[in-house]
Amino acid sequence: MKPTLEIIILAAGKGSRMRSSLPKVLHPLGGRPLLAHVLETVASLNHSGIHAVIGHGADQVRSAFDSADSSDFPFPGPNWVLQERQLGTGHAVQQALPAVKADAVLVLCGDVPLVRRETLNRLAALADAESLIVLTLNTDRPEGFGRIVRGPDGGIEAIVEDRDTSPEQRRIGEVNSGIMLLPAARLRRWLGRLDRDNAQGEYYLTDVVAMARAEGSPVRALSINDSREVQGVNDLAQLAALERHYQMGKAEQLLAAGARLADPARVDVRGEVATGKNVEIDVNIVFEGKVSLGEGVRVGPNCVVKDASIAAGTELLAGTCVDGAVIGADCRIGPMARLRPGTELGERVKIGNFVETKNARLGNGAKANHLCYLGDVEIGENANIGAGVIVCNYDGAKKHQTVIGNRVFVGSNSVLIAPLRLRDDAFVAAGSAIGSEVPAGNLAVGRARQRNIPRWKRPGGR
Ligand code: UD1
Ligand code: MG
Repeated sequence: MKPTLEIIILAAGKGSRMRSSLPKVLHPLGGRPLLAHVLETVASLNHSGIHAVIGHGADQVRSAFDSADSSDFPFPGPNWVLQERQLGTGHAVQQALPAVKADAVLVLCGDVPLVRRETLNRLAALADAESLIVLTLNTDRPEGFGRIVRGPDGGIEAIVEDRDTSPEQRRIGEVNSGIMLLPAARLRRWLGRLDRDNAQGEYYLTDVVAMARAEGSPVRALSINDSREVQGVNDLAQLAALERHYQMGKAEQLLAAGARLADPARVDVRGEVATGKNVEIDVNIVFEGKVSLGEGVRVGPNCVVKDASIAAGTELLAGTCVDGAVIGADCRIGPMARLRPGTELGERVKIGNFVETKNARLGNGAKANHLCYLGDVEIGENANIGAGVIVCNYDGAKKHQTVIGNRVFVGSNSVLIAPLRLRDDAFVAAGSAIGSEVPAGNLAVGRARQRNIPRWKRPGGR
């Protein structure tokens, strides 16, 4: 029978070297917490339970996941286990073990975010009720890691922590990734025998390796060579380096899907981006959440695009910010436009510089080319909103809706005071303040009549 497997993720440590009040496993990589990466990766393994050991900032860690909506974290939450005092990795595993019923346990670290599912699957495939299997890394930079000490027969004898190594051991190039597969019943027994007689005064999980060896219990290694896969995050420099690595992977995915990137090092993806053919992406772009770019979409320099769907042929010009918008085909947005949540644009819509939209639906061919605020508004096809038009949607207490018909023309610098309706083909004279309905085809003039005063005297008498 195949052995059952449960997963324990260690995430209770303080992360002092981060020099941050945020618990380490909540620091973001690619826009989501380190721990989220691990949880997502293990969710797809064949397992019968996931336990996360938390301690430092436990409430903050738990609520970051429990209160998030499922689109942010599309995986089930773990069983949270509290380790009140952080007495070491062995002690941490011990806190989770009473809840474990499986034959084998896979232990991972919450601060090693980029381990691949394929690697874990290979490791899990080796599980049985007896063997201890360490995921090891062959590296020419073993500093900081526990070293794998092998005996004359080539078998693993012990793991010696960096700070406990002898000068010869320090030169060993095979190290502990921190990821280990352990037989549950034996592990219980071994953990009960751990002591804190080491440089850090901690109960080391790694000490169980020597115990297993001494008992003649099987100990093996699965070795990998890509150090980034098991790169831990212990300080902000490591986090920044890992972020660059992660982003380069995201950029490669975009390139492979056929998106032309002006510079793969100057686009950041903090979420998922789907692209059609012939997409062009200029420099200094941040994508967040779920973004889809249709065929031939062009994103100009310095844009931030979050949770947006942009249809074929549309162009975002320099400095445009899009958040929560659905944009139709062949639109031209920006430069320096801001589309906020609830914006829905039809086809061939033009939104120009310094135009802000929120809860705004614009029909095909509508235009607002300069300096507008368009909030809680529906705008018909081919309507033209002049420069400086403000939709006053807020009366200080409530938001109100404005409905603007097809082919309406709103002259420059007009204010439209909601709730309001401008029927099809209405025409608003420039500089008007409009607070009541304009019937179809009417001209509305809502401004003081101009008076010219001849022969007046300027102050100062000249
Ligand atoms: C650990 C391993 C080391 C390995 C390295 C790989 C041990 C003793 N050492 O060292 O062999 O090469 O990872 O990155 O296991 N944690 C708890 N509770 C505690 C202490 C730690 O939950 O009481 C968690 C931390 O939050 C972290 C993980 O365990 O996620 C590893 O702890 P850390 O202090 O980072 O160990 P390393 O020194 O990196
Ligand atoms: Mg570590």
